[in-house]
Amino acid sequence: MSIAVEPATSTPAPSTHVELLKRFIQAYWLRPENAFWMTLRSRALSLCPLEQPSIDLGCGDGVFSFLHCGGVFGPAFDVFASTAKLNEVRQRHADMFDCVGDDYHPTILSRPTTAIDVGLDLKPALLGKANRLALYGRLVEHDSNSPLPFDDDSFQTVYCNCAYWVTEIELFLDELRRITRPGGRIILQVKLDSMRRYTLDAFRPALGQQVLDILDRGRADCWPTVADRATWEQRFGTAGLEVENATPFVTRTHAHIWDIGLRPIAPMLVRMANALTPETRESVKRDWVDLFCELLEPLADPTLDLFTKPDDPAEIQYTLTPQR
Ligand SMILES: C[S@@+](CC[C@H](N)C(=O)[O-])C[C@H]1O[C@@H](n2cnc3c(N)ncnc32)[C@H](O)[C@@H]1O
Repeated sequence: MSIAVEPATSTPAPSTHVELLKRFIQAYWLRPENAFWMTLRSRALSLCPLEQPSIDLGCGDGVFSFLHCGGVFGPAFDVFASTAKLNEVRQRHADMFDCVGDDYHPTILSRPTTAIDVGLDLKPALLGKANRLALYGRLVEHDSNSPLPFDDDSFQTVYCNCAYWVTEIELFLDELRRITRPGGRIILQVKLDSMRRYTLDAFRPALGQQVLDILDRGRADCWPTVADRATWEQRFGTAGLEVENATPFVTRTHAHIWDIGLRPIAPMLVRMANALTPETRESVKRDWVDLFCELLEPLADPTLDLFTKPDDPAEIQYTLTPQR
């Protein structure tokens, strides 16, 4: 898959983080807890320029990176309009986004002002969606548990926000070092295993396992190599990656709110929203987005923590440099 991408190097930003939050809520409105998390990711990532040549590993449908890179969708676009297997989400933990139809044409009001040279993902349908965004120069279908299909020193910037999804993490980190140019940077946004504590699990005796299972919906199964901070940093050292910077950007408060979220009812919300006429859907969505912008604005602050005693962050951004 290949499209022409104009070169651009600076990382743009919407004028305020409130505007950024609004763009993420518009795209992910039925999962507002994902919208604020992605806003936090984008704010952290704005600290690092995506110098070219660049790669986005585990890019998925590309919507996160499109918005981060300054792209703007029409208000009617969101990731829920093109979904499948909604009846299999609860029991089989199906990925409702893993589909692409010929009619998937997101309305783009402004193209991203930063291009990304390569997007890579395991799932061809998600790459098909990413291909419609005029963001990536090239899209590559590949399982990151195997050696990456790029020459040594291919990239100045390597970005990945889902390394903890990769089972063969040592191999993957070795590969990140190999494909990064001397003087280049690897930006990893990784969840910490503190996430496992930032749930309602401690209340199992009162809530029962079924409630916890409904809330969890198999998400932890997708994180085989989530780890604590010391383990991540030891893995980086073993792979010959030096930590240049570590920026915590999701707190325990964010993680607890995300833990409840609308995840369990998302398939039903999607079915309801998609059964509406386009006019009604847009009008409900407009009010919903306005409300959640106000509700979630305080959560778009990476330092927000409502607990009195400090505890581990839930996600950290590492910038790493390859050692030879
Ligand atoms: C949580 S999603 C993140 C997608 C995107 N980066 C974003 O922020 O929206 C994780 C992505 O990693 C991809 N993925 C998971 N395991 C992978 C693997 N072994 N190799 C390549 N991609 C993988 C999934 O297909 C999915 O698109």
